[in-house]
Amino acid sequence: SPATGIIGAMDQEIELLLQSLEAREDVHLSGMTFYRGVLEGRPVVLTRCGIGKVNAAMTTLALIWLGADRIIFTGVAGGVRPGLRVGDIVVSTDLVQHDLDASALGYALGQVPDEAEFSWEADAALRDLALEVASQVTDVQAVAGRIVSGDQFIASPEKVRWLQQTFDAAAAEMEGAAVAQVAYKNRVPFVVIRSLSDTADGGAHMDYPTFMPIAAARAKTVVREMLRRL
Ligand code: ADE
Repeated sequence: SPATGIIGAMDQEIELLLQSLEAREDVHLSGMTFYRGVLEGRPVVLTRCGIGKVNAAMTTLALIWLGADRIIFTGVAGGVRPGLRVGDIVVSTDLVQHDLDASALGYALGQVPDEAEFSWEADAALRDLALEVASQVTDVQAVAGRIVSGDQFIASPEKVRWLQQTFDAAAAEMEGAAVAQVAYKNRVPFVVIRSLSDTADGGAHMDYPTFMPIAAARAKTVVREMLRRL
């Protein structure tokens, strides 16, 4: 039966949503755990995907096979766009794999060879709802922008500048583009919502643990309110 798939990157965030999940049923598949149930009166499948694009891709496909007909991903990211601050929320317009490089074959950086899309567009309705809810239920700035993903924790100003100039990125993280690619191929609408835990510079590794619990609590509030309005 159709359900909204919710993927969290953080244990804390999944924990907070699990506490409110009604009619919970746990499904174990390929080393992952999925929690079916009802949240805010809506059928959902909830899961934590682990770190990196491979984990994100396999989780997303399993979630779709378990009946998810739309996907909301929430987690934290490093801010890339100038002016964004720790705590701000970036909602995906589209996503690119910043670490994919087949330029020796003549492809643009980020382009998956032989695929039509350079980036994968989030669903406009989910994106607009996420932006509206985030600005209403939080006191931080919520913006739309391109999110770039790679199997790298970004912690240098040079790399931040490169991501800005090469991809016009607003934020960098490690899963979103993989979720987007898999969802797109399955024609499942999706959105990626990221709270900035750091600005991907020299202090990134120190800001991250401090900010994580606050971000998890905020993300939980945004997701619950989105479900109420879907
Ligand atoms: N997630 C949170 N901060 C990040 C960063 N600086 N790089 C990659 N992923 C992140």
